[in-house]
Amino acid sequence: MKRLAPLLCLLAALAGLLGQAIVHACGDTPEPTGTATHFPLVYGDRPTVQQLTDLGRRIFSDASLSASGKQSCASCHDPKSAFGPPNRLLVQPGGPSMDRLGFRNTPSLRYLHAPIAFTEHFYEVEPTGGKEDQGPTGGRTWDGRVNTGHDQALMPLMDANEMANTSKAEIAARLARTPYAKAFAEAVSPPGENVFDDPDSAVLWLTVALENFEQSRAEFHPFSSKFDAYLRDQATLTAAEQRGMAIFNDMKKGNCASCHPATHKQAGVRFPMFTDLGHVALAVPRNPALAVNQDPTFFDLGLCGPLRTDLQDRPEYCGLFRTPTLRNVALRHHFFHNGALQSLREVVEFYATRDTDPDRWYGKGRKYNDLPPKYWANVNSDIPFKPLPNGKPRLSPRDIDDIVAFLGTLTDGYEAPASGPSRPRAPRAAAAR
Ligand code: HEC
Ligand code: HEC
Repeated sequence: MKRLAPLLCLLAALAGLLGQAIVHACGDTPEPTGTATHFPLVYGDRPTVQQLTDLGRRIFSDASLSASGKQSCASCHDPKSAFGPPNRLLVQPGGPSMDRLGFRNTPSLRYLHAPIAFTEHFYEVEPTGGKEDQGPTGGRTWDGRVNTGHDQALMPLMDANEMANTSKAEIAARLARTPYAKAFAEAVSPPGENVFDDPDSAVLWLTVALENFEQSRAEFHPFSSKFDAYLRDQATLTAAEQRGMAIFNDMKKGNCASCHPATHKQAGVRFPMFTDLGHVALAVPRNPALAVNQDPTFFDLGLCGPLRTDLQDRPEYCGLFRTPTLRNVALRHHFFHNGALQSLREVVEFYATRDTDPDRWYGKGRKYNDLPPKYWANVNSDIPFKPLPNGKPRLSPRDIDDIVAFLGTLTDGYEAPASGPSRPRAPRAAAAR
């Protein structure tokens, strides 16, 4: 345990979870935490953030760390697809023989560099100055069941449907055989020792390396979309994109920004995340293409299980999933936690007509077919789901097209056309509206 103390100090700093008192205990002078410039020293001057990031990048794409020898993190989270799925498969196969399937849609890993830890009560300061409990918020994965990047990284490494290692010793042994094992040991071994003599410590450092890599700005949060260029006054939105943005923000029409904020509430921060990380039940249709759904009694209920286990006796949480970012959403082929819908237009149509034309989404005479009726009270029915007073959907076909056009501006890697604005202008004061 003593040997792990400096490591725990680093982890505490990385996760920002432990208080100043513990940071004090880690050294004579408290180190400012969490940034590359003020990184707490661990074994003298190593490992550096750069060392961990570089190791993390190699680990991320190394299939030799899986039981099959064929799967790495990058097999499911493709760097070329904003760290989302590399292909059109609904679920990426994994396991020792690459023939096992999970049941969740693979998320993009972009813009997850700073999610708040999961909490059942997130208090947001309202414009009136009051505070309102927004309910369950934050965490990583679709049900927020893990908080830190290093804890998360262990899950796919050990998941029987994914990289399928059965013990930390197995992971450490695979790591010791990689071409970068020497560099890894040099970076993270305690002075005079070899990290591979302690498999638990080797695996912890492996996950910390992945966590560091996931913080790398150029790869994971470049803010390089057309929308970002627009916020920087370096691009102009088309009429359709502009209209789509207005409907997205309009509280009486799309109301999308109420969960996927398109502006930043904090003054001075201009680049929004397009998620408030709230956990909400949308009653997404059942996906018959998922193998688990052959069993009519199986339901993925998000916060209340089956993958998450600490809130299983909380019926009010059944059906809730964490709101994803919409950045890079146009690169995806399957949408929502179960991949039930296959195009962005279909997703926006779902928001518009879930409650005006349920037959289309759930089958004739049926409703909310992926959630047992006892949990239907959990389903969100605010705008845009709430029909107009005349019973019609809030969004017209043209509104839907325009929202889709706007979502297309959220894809990273935008290059301004050569004939862009010729001189830089002052930054825009208010972001989206
Ligand atoms: C077989 C495909 C597969 C592999 C391999 C895989 N992942 Fe994932 N990843 C997923 C899926 C599916 C989810 C959503 C899981 C859930 O919600 O329960 C996910 C979720 C995540 C998340 C949370 C994202 C969020 O929205 O909060 C992170 C971070 C992540 N993976 C990183 C990794 C790392 C690091 C590795 C390699 C050690 C890895 N993944 C390997 C499929 C995969
Ligand atoms: C009440 C909160 C809320 C509102 C309002 C809302 N969303 Fe969402 N959105 C979510 C949640 C939660 C999910 C994930 C649901 C799931 O998978 O079960 C989601 C998922 C999505 C996805 C799928 C992303 C992916 O990676 O699979 C898209 C696209 C999307 N929303 C767009 C919109 C648009 C466009 C609007 C406005 C018309 C909107 N949302 C309004 C909460 C909301």
